[in-house]
Amino acid sequence: MRPPTLHALLCLCSCLTLVHPFDWQDLNPVAHIESSARISKLQALMAAAMFGQTKIPTGNGPYSVSCTDLMFKYTNKSTFLRVYYPSQGDVHSETIWIPNKEYFFGLSKFLGTRWLMGKILNSLFGSMTAPVSWNSPLRTGEKYPLIVFSHGLGAFRTIYSAIGIDLASHGFIVAVVEHRDGSASATYYYNDQSAAEIGKKTWLYLKTLKHGEEEVPLRNEQVQLRAKECSQALDLLLCVDCETKNVLDLEFDLKQLKDSIDRNKIAVMGHSFGGATVIQALNDDQRFRCGIALDAWMLPLAEEVLSNFSQPLFFINSERFQYPANIIQMKKCDSPGKERKMITIKGSVHQNFADFTFATGKMIGHMFTLQGTIDSKVAIDLSNKASLAFLQKHLELQKDFDQWNDLIEGKDENLIPGTNIDTTKQTVTLQNSTGTEKQNLD
Ligand SMILES: *[C@@H]1O[C@H](CO)[C@@H](O)[C@H](O)[C@H]1NC(C)=O
Ligand SMILES: *[C@@H]1O[C@H](CO)[C@@H](O)[C@H](O)[C@H]1NC(C)=O
Ligand SMILES: *[C@@H]1O[C@H](CO)[C@@H](O)[C@H](O)[C@H]1NC(C)=O
Repeated sequence: MRPPTLHALLCLCSCLTLVHPFDWQDLNPVAHIESSARISKLQALMAAAMFGQTKIPTGNGPYSVSCTDLMFKYTNKSTFLRVYYPSQGDVHSETIWIPNKEYFFGLSKFLGTRWLMGKILNSLFGSMTAPVSWNSPLRTGEKYPLIVFSHGLGAFRTIYSAIGIDLASHGFIVAVVEHRDGSASATYYYNDQSAAEIGKKTWLYLKTLKHGEEEVPLRNEQVQLRAKECSQALDLLLCVDCETKNVLDLEFDLKQLKDSIDRNKIAVMGHSFGGATVIQALNDDQRFRCGIALDAWMLPLAEEVLSNFSQPLFFINSERFQYPANIIQMKKCDSPGKERKMITIKGSVHQNFADFTFATGKMIGHMFTLQGTIDSKVAIDLSNKASLAFLQKHLELQKDFDQWNDLIEGKDENLIPGTNIDTTKQTVTLQNSTGTEKQNLD
């Protein structure tokens, strides 16, 4: 990545004193704003970004991978997707990781910092790329299983590329939904066709809790809308005869994409708030044949949903994020005759599932809780391989992902079968989005 300009550096130095609570740990839904050592962290982050210690891993599978964006319809009811897919030829190119400065402004809002921080983040990370080609032709001649992916609180469609790229390199089409429920740091839509034609975006930023507003009702409303957006994405991707066109001005053969989806092999996957969305979506939409919840945050879900859905579900947890009340809710999904699996990745943190874990060097990663003690590449590989094995089993794929079946059972030196959390000791209430990850260690 390109070093930030001198201007940005000067601006950064002069505004350090302005910087109000800043901690990347806050990218957790249950995050904690820590004030100490903020400035040195920021300087270190800046240094790390300058020395370019950033690398989102390439896929391990045999297919070349490309990605594109699809937007169907207008207003905040439209569907917005980043799609990763097997592509033609052997293209090795890169795609900008975070494509608009507004996403950095959104992140700065999510972090509780001023707008200026968005500018700084933009200058540090705005030219960072993901190892995936942009908008190449789809590889045809095979039907691919489909995964609909739901992002976490404060996230958006482009920051799960380490997962999207790896799964697509193993022959999946992965559609990451950018949610319009106010949980994305930022997102945009077009009000109507003429706005789309002249490129007039309407930006929608993270909705924060109002003072005194109760969290559970809001999150429950959001999770239901999120699940609806996952189903709507599916409707549009599968709708062979309908006239949906990509609102974005991109040449991409949608008909080919639709024809290449194996309509009986569809799964839903998500991280954090997106993990809760997985469960809501399984409950609401039987077309999702199984689900994978990465470090799910359970607070948004209504009790009746937990025991109601019957498709297979796989919880892949980090060691640091989980806490008794959350695990108790996960265990309420258990029921005889229903397939439920849970593993925990040793030494991992909540951000190990999002690309932020690869955005800085080790030292900085630790400081900001973007990385745990486990190597981030090892952690994402374990998560992806365990996911592939689970998907093969429940989507009945004819692949060799069963070589990783042991991982589903937690059999690996870096895995814990089930959870590291003791839920018998105490009962605590579900943490809201201002709780702290650190408390969970106690
Ligand atoms: C979508 O837009 C409508 C009309 O502006 C508004 O009433 C509604 O609250 C918006 N939905 C969300 C989830 O923001
Ligand atoms: C329970 O699951 C069924 C499908 O198995 C679904 O039709 C129904 O709406 C669900 N009930 C609730 C309360 O969500
Ligand atoms: C979140 O929980 C903390 C205690 O853990 C409480 O002090 C705070 O008021 C809660 N915030 C919201 C928005 O519910």
